[in-house]
Amino acid sequence: MDQEITLRVDGKEHTLTVDTRTTLLDALRERLGITSAKKGCDHGQCGACTVLLDGRRANSCLVLAVANAGAEVVTAAGLADGDELHPMQRSFISHDAFQCGYCTPGQIVSAVAMLREAEAGWPSVVSEDLDADEVVLDHGEIAERMSGNLCRCAAYANIVPAIAEVAR
Ligand code: FES
Repeated sequence: MDQEITLRVDGKEHTLTVDTRTTLLDALRERLGITSAKKGCDHGQCGACTVLLDGRRANSCLVLAVANAGAEVVTAAGLADGDELHPMQRSFISHDAFQCGYCTPGQIVSAVAMLREAEAGWPSVVSEDLDADEVVLDHGEIAERMSGNLCRCAAYANIVPAIAEVAR
């Protein structure tokens, strides 16, 4: 069954008709031609498809497009302010925090959301009893909070410091 929906992606509104079984990731990539959200595993294991969905990070391969009609979606391409890269994007570049680059858009979106979560005092799995004021993102904490984003090239040695620099 098809359904017409509207999505706001990286600041631009799109109206499209999708099968109700279409994931948000497929709607972005296959229907709208927005390829900045990557398809890795397509079942919630790798994080390559991470987007901000109404401000929170989500694996776009795990949610249906129709369930998010009217949502605000931000991909890595939407983080920049015109020609000005987002600080997280600049930090990934300056730390050479990638090898093949396939996971990088998802890593960057996830890192931006993760820092917002930390600022809001959302506890992580390793520091459940921290207050917002006490949140200290050391490298281990960052790695734990980013554990949903895999890098098959294992560039973590540069990814974690890139995020840590923005977290300071
Ligand atoms: Fe969505 Fe891997 S493609 S988690």
